[in-house]
Amino acid sequence: MQNRMMITGAGSGLGREIALRWAREGWQLALADVNDVGLKETLELVKQAGGQGFVQRCDVRDYSQLTALAQACEEKLGGIDVIVNNAGVAAGGFFCELSLEDWEWQLSINLMGVVKGCKAFLPLLERSKGRIINIASMAALMQGPAMSNYNVAKAGVLALSESLLVELRHQQVAVHVVCPSFFQTNLLDSFRGPTPAMKAQVGKLLESSPISAADIADYIYRQVADEQFMILPHELGREAWQVKQRDPQRIYDEMASMADKMRAKAKSVGAGLPRDTM
Ligand SMILES: NC(=O)c1ccc[n+]([C@@H]2O[C@H](COP(=O)([O-])OP(=O)(O)OC[C@H]3O[C@@H](n4cnc5c(N)ncnc54)[C@H](O)[C@@H]3O)[C@@H](O)[C@H]2O)c1
Repeated sequence: MQNRMMITGAGSGLGREIALRWAREGWQLALADVNDVGLKETLELVKQAGGQGFVQRCDVRDYSQLTALAQACEEKLGGIDVIVNNAGVAAGGFFCELSLEDWEWQLSINLMGVVKGCKAFLPLLERSKGRIINIASMAALMQGPAMSNYNVAKAGVLALSESLLVELRHQQVAVHVVCPSFFQTNLLDSFRGPTPAMKAQVGKLLESSPISAADIADYIYRQVADEQFMILPHELGREAWQVKQRDPQRIYDEMASMADKMRAKAKSVGAGLPRDTM
């Protein structure tokens, strides 16, 4: 029976809601984050929801902290069945405005954090014939303007997940990738970008989601049970992805005119971001 899950970025937002969704099924949870206060709150909520587990501070940029977390899962839970590479940060800004440091920061957390999580836990997952759930974004599929570093990181998570899907079938390790559009969490707290106006615009988009982080966690739970590889929780996101597969030029044209509007807006009040990404 599989009932042990590790989640990065479990101190807030989607990571917390995933913990609670699986806790309601009685799972044991290894909760990791750089946010100690958030982690403690999540563990308390997990216990109230019927689960149990432990917390461990872990910065996904540091491979040795991830291998230490894997070791803790081994010692405290006897192994692990599912890992959720969820920790992430927000970014925005036109390519010409982004520094190389912005790129390195973004890729080190949102892409390499996932690579390192998969690598550190693979030996445990091979033993349990477990499962990897990587949290990407619609930005992996629809590259909106003024978020190239985020788009590239998330597209990398998708490509990594597709690569692991085919490679790890041999070891009977299952793989899923989740691509949500915007939804309300604390993601804005980590925003890094050249203009405050753009940050404000991202805040509005997070608020505009018709579904919550809890809805998304529940959708992921059901799609994982159905063995779906690519999980698109937002209805508008699913529709937009179908359009792009049929007629990619239509999406490129829409994104290009959105970039024009954003440039014009940036000249007056500030920048904006496309609705179906992040
Ligand atoms: N909120 C959205 O609109 C949205 C949309 C698509 C995808 N996502 C993705 O969902 C995931 C979860 O984000 P969220 O929206 O719940 O945001 P959030 O900020 O509420 O939660 C992210 C968590 O990751 C943690 N974190 C950040 N850097 C870390 C690091 N280096 N090591 C360990 N933990 C770290 C933060 O402390 C935080 O607790 C992210 O990968 C994000 O890119 C979010």
